[in-house]
Amino acid sequence: MNDSLDPADWSGLRALGHRMVDDMFDHLETLRDGPVWRPMPEAARAELRQALPRDPVPAAAVYDDFRRLVVPYATGNLHPRFMGWVHGGGNPVGMLAEFLAAGLNANLGGRDHAPIEVERQVIAWAAEMLGFPSDASGVLVTGTSIANLIGVLVARTASLGPSVRRRGVRGSGLVAYTSAAAHGCLPRAMDMAGLGREALRLIACDDDGRMRLDELVRRVQQDLDDGLRPFLVVGTAGTVDTGAVDDLAGLADFAERQDLWFHIDGAYGAIAALSPALRPLLTGIERADSVAFDFHKWAQVPYDAGCIVVRDAARQIETFGAEAAYLRREQRGLAGGGVWPCDLGPDLSRGFRALKVWMTVSVYGADRIGAIAARTCELAAMLAARVDQEPDLQRLAPVALNIVCFRFIASSGNLDRLNVEIAADLQEAGIAAPSTTTVNGALAIRAAIVNHRTSEADIAVLVDAVLKAGRVRTRCVPARETQMLKAMR
Ligand SMILES: Cc1ncc(COP(=O)(O)O)c(C=O)c1O
Repeated sequence: MNDSLDPADWSGLRALGHRMVDDMFDHLETLRDGPVWRPMPEAARAELRQALPRDPVPAAAVYDDFRRLVVPYATGNLHPRFMGWVHGGGNPVGMLAEFLAAGLNANLGGRDHAPIEVERQVIAWAAEMLGFPSDASGVLVTGTSIANLIGVLVARTASLGPSVRRRGVRGSGLVAYTSAAAHGCLPRAMDMAGLGREALRLIACDDDGRMRLDELVRRVQQDLDDGLRPFLVVGTAGTVDTGAVDDLAGLADFAERQDLWFHIDGAYGAIAALSPALRPLLTGIERADSVAFDFHKWAQVPYDAGCIVVRDAARQIETFGAEAAYLRREQRGLAGGGVWPCDLGPDLSRGFRALKVWMTVSVYGADRIGAIAARTCELAAMLAARVDQEPDLQRLAPVALNIVCFRFIASSGNLDRLNVEIAADLQEAGIAAPSTTTVNGALAIRAAIVNHRTSEADIAVLVDAVLKAGRVRTRCVPARETQMLKAMR
């Protein structure tokens, strides 16, 4: 018996592969005609739950299960009217790149090979985009949550020195600062770095959702007076709830004066640097010590593709380099290749994420990606204007980038509950998928326009559907509207 997993005759699998590619292109080509999302029926969940398959199942049958049980019930973020959370829309070239990367099955933890050169190129482009020096270091990771963790760890090493890796933080008294609107992964990063969530001071925001610098100054002074050791300030370029961008230049000045590490969470906002129209909003990002962001959000690269870039490469290597192993690396052969990615982050085995970034940026061009970001901001401005015109809608936050928070208003009843129900109505009807959040204590329907496929018509569909669902729920129109809502699928 031949133990290899390769087929004895390639023609059958080859034909199936061609069918898969065709089916997926069909899916992308027609996805606008289908619902944004549909709930997964219990029967389909039950069918997926199977005992460990001991015996082989033909690939065509497994593929058929994928088509029946998985494809129809995916997240929906490919769809132009998916506006929930901050999800990227992916792209067909990135999809093909994923296939090619799996074909090579490269391990990018280290060694001397071309896939690592591709990742180095991607990091160099990221540095160029941010206005960082060309010798900045960086690495691709799953997402900004992990990229932020790496930022915190590098800042910790920069403050306490590399000995922290052996000795731990002990009673170092390190404290960090970020805005009250910062993403929840930052307290988690402090927790995972052994510093504790309470050592992250959440600084109040102004009316535009930006960290208040006067509050930051006051809090740092208070901590210094208390004998603590401020080491890090984290600015946000595009807050998750409303899209606010902190005063990055002001934070850079302050961090420089106080000798704090300046990290920026630019999960989606950093990509604004590719748009001449949006770039001024990020002024100061080029002065950060490190920036975390995602290619899988505004840059439309398929999941997952997070990135951390560090201005001073030595600090990143000090934090993760395996006991100076990088200095001992061989000069020749496959074991050569200089600094390996495993010296720049916590992962040893790593896949070829870089290929989908490299191919997406190469094929579409960085300017086009920047133009998509700018276009989604224009669509958000249009949505905000329409909300402002509608007497039954109320906008709950300023629109700095591409996120609009609003709600349906009614003279009586629980508005928070009403708007949660409206968002779920739209999702379950497959019309649009906004998410919800809380702004100044009020439940908001939150539309994050991230997808390159979203058009003006999609914005109109969202608003019309919110109005219709709100009116049905507040009984301002006959009950038959419920049927109409479903018919809009
Ligand atoms: C501002 C911000 N930071 C961090 C994250 C977490 O990013 P990821 O989901 O890629 O880990 C998000 C996700 O939306 C975000 O908006």
